[in-house]
Amino acid sequence: MIQTTYGEAEVLRFADIDRPVAGDDEVLLRVKAAGVDIGTWHLMAGKPYLLRLGFGLRGPKIPTRGREVAGRVEVAGKNVTEFKPGDEVFGICDGSFAEYAVARPSKLALKPANLTFNQAAVVPISGTTALQGLQRLQEGQRALIIGAAGGVGTFAVQLAKSFGAHVTGVCSTTKLALVRSLGADEVVDYTREDLGDGRYDFILDTAGNRSLKVLRRSLAQEGTLVIVGGEGGGSLHGGLDRVLRAALLTPFVSQKLLGLLVKENAADLDRLRTIIENGELTPVVGRTFQLAEAADAVRLLRHGHPGGKVVVTV
Ligand SMILES: NC(=O)c1ccc[n+]([C@@H]2O[C@H](COP(=O)([O-])OP(=O)(O)OC[C@H]3O[C@@H](n4cnc5c(N)ncnc54)[C@H](OP(=O)(O)O)[C@@H]3O)[C@@H](O)[C@H]2O)c1
Repeated sequence: MIQTTYGEAEVLRFADIDRPVAGDDEVLLRVKAAGVDIGTWHLMAGKPYLLRLGFGLRGPKIPTRGREVAGRVEVAGKNVTEFKPGDEVFGICDGSFAEYAVARPSKLALKPANLTFNQAAVVPISGTTALQGLQRLQEGQRALIIGAAGGVGTFAVQLAKSFGAHVTGVCSTTKLALVRSLGADEVVDYTREDLGDGRYDFILDTAGNRSLKVLRRSLAQEGTLVIVGGEGGGSLHGGLDRVLRAALLTPFVSQKLLGLLVKENAADLDRLRTIIENGELTPVVGRTFQLAEAADAVRLLRHGHPGGKVVVTV
């Protein structure tokens, strides 16, 4: 699935292109499935506009979309020691909405043995983000996960429970049962109630773009807020101002107010594999699409969120 200009899902085109070639430090993957995270929409749409400084001013420098991947190693470059042809892997690369993609071992790990390719493909970015976002969460703390039914949120609820927290998940009415089924001790329907006052030791904010003032009101005096993201933050910078304000404010208040920029790496994928194989984490696949339908997959994620993750089967 390729695109030459930025835009909504209509810009994605199903086309035959040359098979990519792996360099000496890379592997060629036969893609089995590609996870769709909201970052894929950002790269497709070229929004927020600041993103175009790095990814291409007039159109994306890399025309194939998709970043989360699960598949089989077809060719390993001559310097690659971590993987060999035939290995089943999952991870992050460019252009996973394709039959073949090139990946670096530094962003790959062996696929959890108890997952299908479809399940494994939705883990890499969302799972790593949840894991890193919860790094400061301590056993016994009261945690609030905002956006609990989303890609990052469905991982975060399960991980926070496995770390021994008392978890409250925030989602819309139709997702309450899903969030409970992930192990949340309590749920808040954000369409009917607000977050409450000063109860939480830890807040992971992945959705809704609430102001710092609102979030701090729900946070205990010595609590920690980690801002992962949230749509609706404006076309230019996409809500980065909230993170900057948090960084400026945090030295002067008793609460810790932090932003997160996920670091994609193999060690966290390995850690996620262990947690998954231990039975403490199960990816939620909300909808499955075929490769030729990838545009519909991105459209659904953007406009009719199914809960959990969307996956493209190749
Ligand atoms: N900082 C980083 O490095 C990093 C990494 C990955 C992702 N992100 C960002 O994190 C955010 C979440 O990503 P994602 O992949 O989880 O997105 P997602 O799968 O689209 O999930 C977003 C969820 O937000 C919920 N939601 C919408 N409005 C809400 C509100 N007012 N209050 C509470 N929940 C609300 C939706 O649930 P309902 O259907 O229940 O409304 C949806 O399930 C995105 O903005 C993404 O760009 C940042």
